[in-house]
Amino acid sequence: MPRNKVIILDYGSQVTQLIARRVRELGVYSEIHSCMTRAEQIAAMRPGAVILSGGPASVGESGAPALDPELLKINVPILGICYGMQLLAENLGGALAKSSTREYGPAELVFNSPCALWKGIKEPTRVWMSHGDRVVSPPPGFVVAGSTSTLDIAAMADAGRKIYAVQFHPEVHHSADGRKMLSNFLFDVAALTPDWSMTSFVERVIGEMAASIGDKHVVCALSGGIDSTVVAVLLHRAIGGNLHCIFVDNGLLRRGEADEVANYLRMCFDLNLNVVQAQDRFLSRLRNVEDPEQKRKIIGHAFIEIFEEEAKKLPQTDFLAQGTLYPDVIESVSYKGPSAVIKSHHNVGGLPEKMRLGLIEPLRELFKDEVRKVAAELGLPDFIVWRHPFPGPGLAIRVLGEVTEERLDILRNADDIVTQELKDSDWYSKVWQGFAVLLPLRTVGVMGDGRTYEHVVALRIVDSVDAMTADWTRLPPEILERISTRIINEVSGVNRVVYDISSKPPSTIEWE
Ligand code: XMP
Repeated sequence: MPRNKVIILDYGSQVTQLIARRVRELGVYSEIHSCMTRAEQIAAMRPGAVILSGGPASVGESGAPALDPELLKINVPILGICYGMQLLAENLGGALAKSSTREYGPAELVFNSPCALWKGIKEPTRVWMSHGDRVVSPPPGFVVAGSTSTLDIAAMADAGRKIYAVQFHPEVHHSADGRKMLSNFLFDVAALTPDWSMTSFVERVIGEMAASIGDKHVVCALSGGIDSTVVAVLLHRAIGGNLHCIFVDNGLLRRGEADEVANYLRMCFDLNLNVVQAQDRFLSRLRNVEDPEQKRKIIGHAFIEIFEEEAKKLPQTDFLAQGTLYPDVIESVSYKGPSAVIKSHHNVGGLPEKMRLGLIEPLRELFKDEVRKVAAELGLPDFIVWRHPFPGPGLAIRVLGEVTEERLDILRNADDIVTQELKDSDWYSKVWQGFAVLLPLRTVGVMGDGRTYEHVVALRIVDSVDAMTADWTRLPPEILERISTRIINEVSGVNRVVYDISSKPPSTIEWE
């Protein structure tokens, strides 16, 4: 574990993850923990600084998450953001005013007194506000460090105790100098050194895995996506021939996908790789099934079954490797407890319990963009590094309604055109995901002199940083037009293309 670590206490803000990402971008390792974590537990983690996130509650109201007052005694630099600022004010003897409305949006911050956070920043500077309650009197020992035209105390500081608080959100892009303020806090106030880089991560994690696995064997499910590919390559570096990869071709992959990745890995890494052809088993079990959750369950179970069958043929394996990422880990530590299941994400879930294998999850500290950096660090090619995320249940949840070979073929052809056009126009790497969905309905059209009654394809192209939220991509109309024309002309059985303009939330990225 790196020496310099920032602990972020999550009070439920939608942008808590962003704080962690910004801190890491500045070269310091950060972890998000529940706001219920006790001060002694935090002290045991030996953080170089603590950041209290924003949150939707109102300090002091019943059920509002609190601050363990002991945290203020462990002598660690603290930055409170929004709700975090109000908690600090409340706990240290300041005064708050309740508000019935929320102030939301940009504001111009001016500096009321010199402050380490403002080093190298010119006033006024644009900041992003999102708050209800406000601090009306700073605690003893604090100076008012900044204000806006509507907020007298927008920032406060006790330089002696290294406790700083801002009512705005420095972590969001709309706060023009937010990054610099965070950097000032990390390096000037907390005197941390930037030692979190993907090069150091790769070296450390390979060393740790080699030491903990020793001469035991590890089995890894490869999906063809970046996460499991990076896991496999890291493990291959750590334990070489004791890694056994299983790639299940379930017949629900995009065109060429299975071959592309498997060939690359075989050629470049000399991996023990078993590609299992299981198309028939999946497709026969999906016959007549329309319910999305049912599809996911069938695919998950079939996958586990095949994986177990194949794993039995290997030498005695003690560990299962998985591409769990940090957002999966923190979803279960949110201060409200595990977040509600919107869709069941299977993949290899359930395997370790049944097979009594230890888990190896080398990416569990990383965000998706960091995995891409690791992939680049490992020398993986762009077609793997920049491949769009793909759901475990594959095209089965993009063929809405019944999954048949004929309907999968239509979708594969349309999807191929979407990918090609995004790549040709250089949009592929700019968007988070872009794909086609086959709708379970037909519409009327005219082609030549005749009336047609055929399928509809929806395009889903989204921008996102981590798939937790997403917005539809404002793709230039010429590109949309080309995709639509090509699909209708080239994919037989389709006479209409529509563009999905919903954001997540309230929609999700996938349609099922
Ligand atoms: P949603 O549709 O929930 O998707 O907004 C968020 C991200 O997760 C991907 N996704 C999955 N990934 N197994 C996966 O590994 C799944 O079952 C699954 N379902 C959705 C989706 O493509 C998007 O990137």
